[in-house]
Amino acid sequence: MEEIRSKKKIVHEKIPVKVYNDSEEASKAVAHEIALLIKRKKTEGWACVLGLATGTTPKSVYKELIRLHREEGLSFQHVVSFNLDEYYPMQPDSLQSYVRFMYEQLFNHVDIPKENIFIPDGTLLPEAVKKYCEAYEEKIDALGGIDFQLLGIGGNGHIGFNEPGSLAGSKMRLMMLDQSTRVSAAAEFGGQLSKVPRKAITLGVEKILQAKRIVLLAWGEKKATAVKSAIEGHVDENFPASYLQLHDNAEFYLDEGAALELTHIKSPWLFENVNWNMPLIKKAVTNLSLSVSKPILKLTNKDYNDNGLSDLLAGYGDAYDINIEVFNQLQHTITGWPGGKPDADDTLRPERAKPEKKRCLIFSPHPDDDIISMGGTFQRLVDQGHDVHVAYQTSGNIAVADDEALRFIDFVVDFNNKFGIINEETISIYNKAKAFLENKR
Ligand code: F6R
Repeated sequence: MEEIRSKKKIVHEKIPVKVYNDSEEASKAVAHEIALLIKRKKTEGWACVLGLATGTTPKSVYKELIRLHREEGLSFQHVVSFNLDEYYPMQPDSLQSYVRFMYEQLFNHVDIPKENIFIPDGTLLPEAVKKYCEAYEEKIDALGGIDFQLLGIGGNGHIGFNEPGSLAGSKMRLMMLDQSTRVSAAAEFGGQLSKVPRKAITLGVEKILQAKRIVLLAWGEKKATAVKSAIEGHVDENFPASYLQLHDNAEFYLDEGAALELTHIKSPWLFENVNWNMPLIKKAVTNLSLSVSKPILKLTNKDYNDNGLSDLLAGYGDAYDINIEVFNQLQHTITGWPGGKPDADDTLRPERAKPEKKRCLIFSPHPDDDIISMGGTFQRLVDQGHDVHVAYQTSGNIAVADDEALRFIDFVVDFNNKFGIINEETISIYNKAKAFLENKR
């Protein structure tokens, strides 16, 4: 397990960060830290109190904990666990319940006593929630507080379900979910936003911050902006993960994707002497152009100097020359002849001129990525006579809410009726789809 960077000293980063090659390595590191803590507390004669999270992110940690239990005899007999949150209302056996999630992902596979497991109850009557939350927090306090709190992060900066606006002193409570949280959760609810609960019970920020140790995990580029705001931004109630800056033993474990927006990764030249090569120069100059909002060809020596790129100037000459070099490189990646121009000297272009007609394969992870991201290029390849194929890598059905699908078929049925178009087949598709969607689980 190789930790590739630990950058505690970097001033930009107000929370220590560990960046790993991938989420598996990072998860193993976290699981091992938890295992050591469980063992240490046991030797000291204490229960180990874990604060646990659900969602996609911690699954790989739970997998490793199960492996440690099965193969290396890690026992959970002395573990007490408190989960962060649960949708409200929610039956514990529902597919989307965090109770079900925790049993399937961890508890069914380790020896934790059932009476040591605490997960917020989504079946309470509204009037019972307040007392329940108070008792939940008291139970945590009675055990001496949370020893280790595992967290994920929402794109809007939520931790647990403490949505933007949550105060640092917020208690465990019923919380209205942010629209963005509900949209992200819709896939778990068969793509139907209307089925995503509007509320959740969540541990408050206060209890999270009282944990003795906090590790927040984030994987993939889609978390990179949120991670940067939490670590480098101001402490801000509109971005609850930034409260972790107030904790003296919180740490972020990231894979490379989630770390991409951190300044020390995006602009390493600001922190250390780098070996300038063309890809790095291109990255620095394009970043500079974006950050000073100027076209590359208008960047000046002063822009370079003011933005930590003086050693690039020292090694490579004037801004003028560097600008032109980078501009040309970028310009050569753009062409009206994406398949190569017949009989042209295309040594500096992205695609070779010969053979003139090519077979092209467009990978479109999601149907419509091809059209949305490269519709013009696609069209030109066809117009220029290439043999063009597309590989769709998913049917894309989960990105289309069920009611949207029905609405469109409904529209076609109405349209056909209105304009006297034979309609039996469409009506039958509509009825079949409706019956299917109503009964699907
Ligand atoms: C879940 C929780 C949430 C998630 C967050 C990230 O118990 O508390 O804050 O950690 O929404 O979710 P994933 O991991 O699915 O990206």
